Amino acid sequence: MKFFIDTADLAEIRALANSGLLDGVTTNPSLIAKSGRDFKEVIKEICAVVPGPVSAEVAGTEYDQIMAEANVLRKIADNVCIKVPLTPDGLRACRHLSDDGTLVNVTLCFSPAQALLAAKSKAAFISPFVGRLDDIGWDGMQLIADIVEIYENYGFRTEVLVASVRNPVHVIEAAKMGAHVATLPPSVLRMLFNHPLTDKGLAAFLADWAKTGQTII
Ligand code: E4P
Repeated sequence: MKFFIDTADLAEIRALANSGLLDGVTTNPSLIAKSGRDFKEVIKEICAVVPGPVSAEVAGTEYDQIMAEANVLRKIADNVCIKVPLTPDGLRACRHLSDDGTLVNVTLCFSPAQALLAAKSKAAFISPFVGRLDDIGWDGMQLIADIVEIYENYGFRTEVLVASVRNPVHVIEAAKMGAHVATLPPSVLRMLFNHPLTDKGLAAFLADWAKTGQTII
């Protein structure tokens, strides 16, 4: 399973890039606004830090505007992935950009039917939002299971990019279902390291090691 990080915070991205665990980055207009940075500048900097796909979302909603914005964004770096909304115009742009060799991430997916349309539009990634479905009392992870099953049935090459992840359970459930990618807020990625028995065991080993009076170097 690939891990993308869901943030436009360069300090967080740099810190986690050093872990060797990052396969890409996703941003959206809300994360760009939160960063307080210039959109194109921040995407350029992220692309220089993380070699994998970096999603940059268009602001246009009509085909011509989406294409015009995508043409600006995809020139920023070779690893820019254009993020388009799951609308008729967004999917039309997705098909055109994908046929032209550009990676496209189709965002704001909330149903298996939408995911089927994105795969038929040759999206590189489909982003189903599990947390936002859970937030309204629906079952976000069931959406992932449905999409994985449908894509496997037809051999679609679109990768399932689990988005709106809120906790490690989302990540593990998605991994068990065979989702290709999860995009994680930095806090959730850090949570994956944690287990109280790891902390307890390490403290005990260090205490016993100190009793030996030895050093390794
Ligand atoms: C990523 O591509 C999505 O925009 C993001 O995961 C949405 O997360 P949120 O529902 O926490 O805003």
